[in-house]
This record gives sequence, C-alpha cells and structure tokens, in this order.
Amino acid sequence: MARILTGIQSTGTPHLGNVLGAIRPAIELAQDTQDESFLFIADLHSLTQIKDGSELRANTYAAAAAWLACGLDTDRTVFYRQSDVPQCTELAWYLSCFFPYNRLTLAHSFKDKSNRLEDVNAGLFSYPMLMAADILAYDANEVPVGKDQLQHLEMARDVAGRINHKVGREILIEPEARTNDATMYVPGTDGAKMSKSKGNLLDPFADEKTLKKVINKQIVTDATPLEEPKDPESSVVYKIYKLVASPEEANAMASKLLAGGYGWGHAKKDLLGALVDGFSQERDTFNRYMADLPALDAELAKGADKARTVANATVNRLRSAFGY
Ligand code: ADP
Ligand code: TRP
Repeated sequence: MARILTGIQSTGTPHLGNVLGAIRPAIELAQDTQDESFLFIADLHSLTQIKDGSELRANTYAAAAAWLACGLDTDRTVFYRQSDVPQCTELAWYLSCFFPYNRLTLAHSFKDKSNRLEDVNAGLFSYPMLMAADILAYDANEVPVGKDQLQHLEMARDVAGRINHKVGREILIEPEARTNDATMYVPGTDGAKMSKSKGNLLDPFADEKTLKKVINKQIVTDATPLEEPKDPESSVVYKIYKLVASPEEANAMASKLLAGGYGWGHAKKDLLGALVDGFSQERDTFNRYMADLPALDAELAKGADKARTVANATVNRLRSAFGY
C-alpha cells in the first residue's frame, strides 16, 4: 500500500477554481484508492508571507472547513495542520544541514523574489527544506502536486538521497511526484483563469446576496441586445455555468442563448441559481464548521495525533543516526 501525501496552502477561503480544480478531484481520488492518504494545511509555510496571527488562523480554519464541506472523510484521510507536528521543523533543520546552499538559491519560490532581496526572509529561502520535511517525515511514496511544485519535489528527493548515501541505508523514502495533466480550467469573472492574485473570484460558500452582487457587477458581458442570438462559447457566464450545472442544463442554456430572446441578465440569474443550489449542502456544512471552531479543531486534532506518531518515528531514526 502506497502512502500519498499532499500539502495545501492556506491563503483564505478556497474559490470556485480551487474547489473544482483541486479539492473535489483530490477527495474523489482519496475515496477511490486503497492507498493511505495524508493531507495537511501548510500553515507554517504561510508564515513566510502572513505575519498576522488572526489572519493566519482564520485562513487555516476556512481552508479546513472548505475541505470538510466538500466531503473529505477524516476516517480515511489523515487531515491535519502542519503546525501541529513540530517534528517537521526539527526534520527541516536536519535536511538543511545536508543540502547545498547553492542549490537552494535556484529554488523558484526564492528566485522569483531575488531581485528584491530585501523582501526575502530566511524562511522563504529555506521553504523547500520545510516542504521536503513535510513529505519525508511521513515516508510518503507519492506526492500529487501542480507542475510549479516539481522543482521542490526534486529537492526533496535530492536531500533524501544525500542523507541515505551518508548513513549508508534507506533511512528516508525518496518520494515520487504525481502531476495531473488533465486539470480543470475555471475562468474567473473577467474570463482569465480564476486566481486569488487577480481578484476575479467566485466563492461557492458565499451567501446568495453576495454571489448575486459579484455575478452582476463583475462578470463582463457584451452589448448584444436581449432578443438577438448570442454565442455561448464566447461568454464567461456560460463557461462557468457549464462547469457547475448538469450537462442537460448547460445544453438548455446554450440553446436559449443561440435562439435569442434570452439576455445576459437571464443567464446570470441561472448561473446564480446553479451556484446557490449546487453548493447548498457544502455551504451549510462550511458555515456550520465556521460557527463551531472547536468541532473543526477536533477534526484536525484527530489527524494530528496520527501524523505526529509517524513523524516522530522518522525523526527518531535520524536522531540516532546522527548521534543525538
Ligand atoms: P490561486 O491561483 O488562486 O493562488 P493556487 O495556486 O493556490 O490558487 O491553487 C491551488 C489549487 O487549485 C491548485 O491545485 C490549482 O491547480 C487549483 N486551481 C487554482 N485556480 C484554478 C482554476 N482557475 N481552475 C482550476 N484549478 C485551479
Ligand atoms: N508548496 C506547496 C504549494 O505551494 C504546498 C506544500 C507545502 C506542499 N508542503 C507540501 C505540497 C508538501 C506537497 C507536499 O502548493
């Protein structure tokens, strides 16, 4: 049985792109597999950017509530906060002592900012070592990541290999990256890829009033008069609707747009309905958790117990190998 592990950034409530492109596929995968899966919120990595404690906590809760609301089963997946496993930071130190400084200077996470060195803290510089510790602490075999994380994965394999070589046996497992080429593309309200950095988000957990405002104000439509035919494929409203409605509903909207007599206002109303109804169960669960943080803490604590046991065993192996 392989162990699959991945970390998720906690930069706020996941948006529709995160939910359709990452959360749902990951949950489906975890349900279908016989493998063991570990999933954690990388809230220690967040500290490289976010220095406000209440913001950091709120982001972690929102991410956790969203995953649980989308159906993550904590009896099948070890779900925890990175910061609940201090063994990881200890391991990150050991790894750092075996990894060449020069290789770290090539990491994208750091290089992207290296023209503004005054913005780079030492945590950001050693980000790949903490990420390697996240993986190696749990003897993970496979790590599903986006292509932007492949270099970090390569560093995790590299440092594991260096330590194995030094101690003369496989004390750490060299993990394999697993990338998914068939990832979904969810457009944002402006038609570009939905992304936190672009401010073009739809929040499927938001209430009807908020969603209505965002859809009506932010989604751009052309000036074709109501009675004229419209091209569904060139419209953001339709493109998003197609991703959240059933195929029959999507076909019905396409036919109405092509026939004319159906305006963008109608299409936006139908999109609103699809989002409000399609995520009603998830929204209820999300709100229930956000109103009951102890329940959320209890779910995360369950995973943390298991995670700490595994990480502790790994750290103990290294401690004795290094003479501590
Ligand atoms: P953002 O671009 O908003 O910062 P992240 O880079 O944190 O999002 O992405 C987290 C996960 O969500 C990744 O697996 C990514 O592929 C997925 N994802 C993000 N935006 C989209 C989108 N617009 N469509 C599909 N998947 C997305
Ligand atoms: N760096 C990853 C990202 O930006 C998040 C992450 C942290 C991670 N630790 C990890 C992913 C370990 C996979 C395995 O998305």
